[in-house]
Amino acid sequence: MKFTKINPTHISSFQNIVGKDFVLFDKDSLDKYSSDETEDLKFLPEVVVKPNTPEQIAEILKICNKEFIPLTPRGAGTGLSGGALPVFGGVILSTERLNRIIEIDERNLQATVEPGVITQVFQEAVIEKGLFYPPDPSSCGSCFLGGNLAESAGGPRAVKYGVTKEYVLNLEMVLPTGEIIWTGANVLKNSTGYNLTQLMVGSEGTLGVITKIVFKLLPYPKTNVVMLVPFFSAEKACEAVSAVFRAGVTPSAMEFMERDAIDWAAAHSPTPSQREGESDVKILPFGKDLGWALSACLLIEVDGNDMDIIMKDVERITEVLEKFECGEILFADTEEQKQNLWRLRRNVAEAVKSHSVYKEEDTVVPRAELPKLLAGVKAIGEKYGFKSVCYGHAGDGNLHVNIIKEDLSTSLRMTDEKWNNEIPKAIREIFTLCKELKGTISGEHGIGWVQKNYMDIAFHPKAIELQKEIKNIFDPKGIMNPGKMFV
Ligand code: LAC
Ligand code: ZN
Repeated sequence: MKFTKINPTHISSFQNIVGKDFVLFDKDSLDKYSSDETEDLKFLPEVVVKPNTPEQIAEILKICNKEFIPLTPRGAGTGLSGGALPVFGGVILSTERLNRIIEIDERNLQATVEPGVITQVFQEAVIEKGLFYPPDPSSCGSCFLGGNLAESAGGPRAVKYGVTKEYVLNLEMVLPTGEIIWTGANVLKNSTGYNLTQLMVGSEGTLGVITKIVFKLLPYPKTNVVMLVPFFSAEKACEAVSAVFRAGVTPSAMEFMERDAIDWAAAHSPTPSQREGESDVKILPFGKDLGWALSACLLIEVDGNDMDIIMKDVERITEVLEKFECGEILFADTEEQKQNLWRLRRNVAEAVKSHSVYKEEDTVVPRAELPKLLAGVKAIGEKYGFKSVCYGHAGDGNLHVNIIKEDLSTSLRMTDEKWNNEIPKAIREIFTLCKELKGTISGEHGIGWVQKNYMDIAFHPKAIELQKEIKNIFDPKGIMNPGKMFV
């Protein structure tokens, strides 16, 4: 696509709209906004603009639309599919100054926020009112709610509470033409017209810019139990997952981690006592004793308001797990231990990233097919000669498959030639397997830049054409986050 390059006239127009301080085009700033958390990608924007009202965004979009300048909305840059990368240069529209929690409506259990609010800041603000916003992506300490919507983020609690989209009632958005619209209403039921709200969720900034979000909230569950379950066989761990749900229990998290994921995350981010050289057996019981045999763990949380009921569920869960040859189950006794276990889990992605160049696939299948998916990934790895480190939201059938380029422990070093030419074929086989198992190619990270070549696996050509036509209706000139989702 031949877009218009940013010139000094554009820069001064942007400066007139948002003020000089909020238009950046020096090398360091452009560099800072050229990557996200996806692999090792880098695309430089030509200018970074930081508005703080929908009206300013409307003015910026009008210029871009008229002048044919690409515009990529960006939250905190924690995305894992390259959604916020300006692959054709142009404008990065950062939402970092749109960071107000406008209202927490305790009467209706709702909240209205701007897209640049950090997810955890919002979670904590509603907890103070006894309310609960369940979606909790691993990056919740830094990611923005707007980005969570754009990619339809999930996280461990989705298994009981659902993903981000389940909490979005209504959106204010700015269209590429500069019009500002609301997509729905602040209601729990809505059978009025097409569902524009949910169309926006997961649209990766390709249709417009979200400027306000109305969320529904829940009452905050009072207590929980967290347990770590070691398994001698990773496939048995995966088989145990669907058996737990079949036994009539819905845990608030059911996470899977392969041995390497656990070891790498523990080494990447030691707990305070590990840092001081004490063994941390309470947190990692398999350390020395089970170490030789451990293949994988399930991290399970059960929450609720009544400890007796929770404990009955925990009993049912442990009865099921024992049938799948698990090791001794560790229960976190204190809040600190719970936090440490969750920290370990949340650090896996960063640990993998710091260990090697990698590609992370966000595979998802119906929960009971998880053992077949894991076995298939390992078989494809054997065929193509790659090591994979798998972990993820087992209760959702959502397995993050990290394909490792260099493994320091086994001295595996893949050539660039193989990495660039053979691994995409292996990924295609993994995604084809997902599709055969009635799953799809991304559960919660989005398509963005890195998965768009595989959309043909997920959809019939007509279904892709329909999506492109929708994009065209919102954005006829194709300036909104071009180069994403579709080839
Ligand atoms: C996680 C992110 C990578 O599950 O989705 O940690
Ligand atoms: Zn995840």
